[in-house]
Amino acid sequence: MGTDSGVHLPVMLDKIVSSLNLKPGHTVLDATIGGGGHAIEILDRIKPGGKLIGLDADASAVSRARGALGDSAALCILVNENFRNLDSVFEREGIKKIDACLFDVGISSFQMDDADRGFSFQRDARLDMRMDPGLRISAWDIVNKYREEDLSDIIYNYGEERFARRVARYIVNSRAEKPIDTTGELRSIVHRAVRGRRGRIDPATRTFQALRIAVNDELGALDEGLKKAIDRLSEGGRIAVISFHSLEDRIVKNIFKSCAASGILKIITRKPITASEEEKAVNPRSRSAKLRIAERVGAL
Ligand SMILES: C[S@@+](CC[C@H](N)C(=O)[O-])C[C@H]1O[C@@H](n2cnc3c(N)ncnc32)[C@H](O)[C@@H]1O
Repeated sequence: MGTDSGVHLPVMLDKIVSSLNLKPGHTVLDATIGGGGHAIEILDRIKPGGKLIGLDADASAVSRARGALGDSAALCILVNENFRNLDSVFEREGIKKIDACLFDVGISSFQMDDADRGFSFQRDARLDMRMDPGLRISAWDIVNKYREEDLSDIIYNYGEERFARRVARYIVNSRAEKPIDTTGELRSIVHRAVRGRRGRIDPATRTFQALRIAVNDELGALDEGLKKAIDRLSEGGRIAVISFHSLEDRIVKNIFKSCAASGILKIITRKPITASEEEKAVNPRSRSAKLRIAERVGAL
């Protein structure tokens, strides 16, 4: 993620594009089209005759990608859809198999920088965090309506926050006085709850991550989407997944491992690949990125 508003730098671009073994005529799934940064390079390698299916749960990302792709958008099927439903898009579009696929999960700089989406505590905004604004439950609902035990479980399980119980208690006490409406209010409640336990990162980071994962069911979607994409990969086809925290990386690792055990995948990256020091210096978002790649070995 670029720190400048309006910029999203695709993570590990060269490594990803070269490792996907792309050839002219290939059909490729970009499960998280975002700003289209990876897609532009992918398209360059699959022309002429190639096709890219680009999905995003966020409708504004799909329109932004369409603009960024310019003339190449004509080679793309761009759909506002959660990747957990990629099978229904494939059915509808008559796509049986893909030659390569990319998942670059999490949120983009555009989403992070858009104060109205309420993802970031760097900007004060109404608590929201829905990637798809059509989702029924937002961060506001979880923070203001969930039972204390459920809040504590979410913060502990998805944020790996040691002081989850305290944070949940402070939230419940605070909302008894008045609803917690904004990212700034939540941030200061978390700060009070974990007072004196500050480390290098803002103490609210883990709670915000937990809420975002819960609102969007990010781990459930990743598990479902990855399995469906692997099912559609043709023999020799590669899948690349970039994740940004240990809970996501564990899901990728375990799915790759179990598919390798059943002879469906060959794991290309024993250990996840990380960004170079140069990239980390210019793109802070790449600092926590982990890339895993596998290749389909069994035929469809
Ligand atoms: C890190 S960005 C992708 C950036 C993109 N690779 C680029 O180069 O511009 C992640 C995108 O994935 C989308 N996303 C996250 N989870 C999703 C899901 N389950 N289904 C579809 N899109 C999802 C987000 O809305 C966001 O736009």
